[in-house]
Amino acid sequence: MQIDPSLHSNEDNYRVLTNLVVPRPIAWVTSLSQTGVINLAPFSFFNAVGGDPLYVVISIGCRDDGAPKDTAKNIQTSGDFVVNLVTEDLLGAMNISAADFPSTESELIAANLHVAPSVHAKAPRLAQAQASLECKLYHSQSLGTNTLFIGEVVMFHVADHLLGPRLQIKNFAPIGRLGSPATYCRTTDRFEVPRVTYAQWQKDSR
Ligand SMILES: Cc1cc2nc3c(=O)[nH]c(=O)nc-3n(C[C@H](O)[C@H](O)[C@H](O)COP(=O)(O)O)c2cc1C
Repeated sequence: MQIDPSLHSNEDNYRVLTNLVVPRPIAWVTSLSQTGVINLAPFSFFNAVGGDPLYVVISIGCRDDGAPKDTAKNIQTSGDFVVNLVTEDLLGAMNISAADFPSTESELIAANLHVAPSVHAKAPRLAQAQASLECKLYHSQSLGTNTLFIGEVVMFHVADHLLGPRLQIKNFAPIGRLGSPATYCRTTDRFEVPRVTYAQWQKDSR
């Protein structure tokens, strides 16, 4: 079956897209408002898109009333944000932080979370997260009703128990988002597939 998005509602198209492009990693973003409120919210239109320099993207829509979300406003005004990664122990807190809290109220208190200072970003990082990426806003770009934010990663914070020799990350298992609105997956079922060179493939296929 073919599904032509031009013949369907935005809502249906969004559901199809977000049930096909899975699993999506979740950026659990801390950002700082102009009045000093620490905001926390999850975004699964998120990925790593550059290695040198290190770039990540998040894409933020509008609230139901058309107003910008707090995270988008804060990143535009402060010029930085922190992506905290969500492990299963933090899933309940992540879900609470996605509620439409007023701008004046920090999600941190409701979700029973604490922050630790960042090194370069004004926005603090989540103390309970096993890994966080401090990001400086590199560029923002309108994408229809969303805004795409490209952040340059300027500092990693990684829990000691995840680190092996030569910066090897061991057994980090953040959750992923499957179909929206509320299906998730674990990333603990793993397997290795060694890469092949073209020469190796030619030799093996003879
Ligand atoms: C797992 C998850 C992923 C989400 N991903 C996005 C996203 O990529 N873009 C977006 O605009 N909203 C996304 N949302 C909804 C926002 O988290 C929600 O609108 C939140 O209230 C925004 O908070 P803020 O106004 O404090 O920035 C997601 C929600 C959940 C639970």
